[in-house]
Amino acid sequence: MTKKELQETTVYLKSKGFDNPEVGIVLGTGLGKLVDEIKDPIVAHYNQIPFFPLATVEFHSGKLIFGEIEGKKVVVMQGRFHLYEGYDFIDITYPIRAMHELGIKKLLISNAAGSINLDFKKGDLMLIEDHINLQGGSPLAFKDVGAFGHRFVDMSEPYDVEMRKTIIDAATDENISLQKGVYASVIGPELETKAEYRYLKLIGADAVGMSTVPEVIVANHLSLPVAAISVITDEGDPDNLQPIDIQEIIKVAGEAEPKMITLFKKLIKQL
Ligand code: HPA
Repeated sequence: MTKKELQETTVYLKSKGFDNPEVGIVLGTGLGKLVDEIKDPIVAHYNQIPFFPLATVEFHSGKLIFGEIEGKKVVVMQGRFHLYEGYDFIDITYPIRAMHELGIKKLLISNAAGSINLDFKKGDLMLIEDHINLQGGSPLAFKDVGAFGHRFVDMSEPYDVEMRKTIIDAATDENISLQKGVYASVIGPELETKAEYRYLKLIGADAVGMSTVPEVIVANHLSLPVAAISVITDEGDPDNLQPIDIQEIIKVAGEAEPKMITLFKKLIKQL
């Protein structure tokens, strides 16, 4: 990744009409329907965008969409890149840097996650308050990081306090029950063993998933305020562990999706 490549990416997107988006949004597994809410959408497929990694996993449709939600100009990633697809940390966070280069001022992230905190049930939403990076690397661990910002990025409050408060208030207004907790990121793609679920509980995680943390680290690198919500799609109860089926995860995410859309729309309106 170079500054020049990022600029070429944004020159291409601007030429397609991606004109000064204010908010960037990343949609997780099974959570693509927010795109139906976008007014006057302009679509760029990932494989058409210069220097974007190519989308692989079939249930991610792999599009960057520009348009309006609640009167705000947004750019939405429908489908994201994962380490488990063989990409590296630089690849998977490239779109975050590209959206920042386009001018976004806020970033909203969603994902599907398994619960470690067993008070959280399938279909619940969890506002991420903090995270634990278990992916064995960092998107800031590269030689030229100094050209993009500080190397030793502060992570004392990685999730924007004001955006979190707005989301909590929106959930109260809309009568949506909202859990809050710590998200642990793993590489995957295999799910966790019973022993791993026990370990995750011990170290203080409330939910586990395979994304988000690298994106949040890069947002912090860019001083870009970020908020993230997990949809709990399965329960990691080590004493009663059920085999997990990815189709089931997608189904549960889809069922919980309307709540997430309501919260995101309300947040976007108030940003
Ligand atoms: N573990 C890891 N990633 C996940 C899970 C899980 O249980 N559910 C959805 N993504």
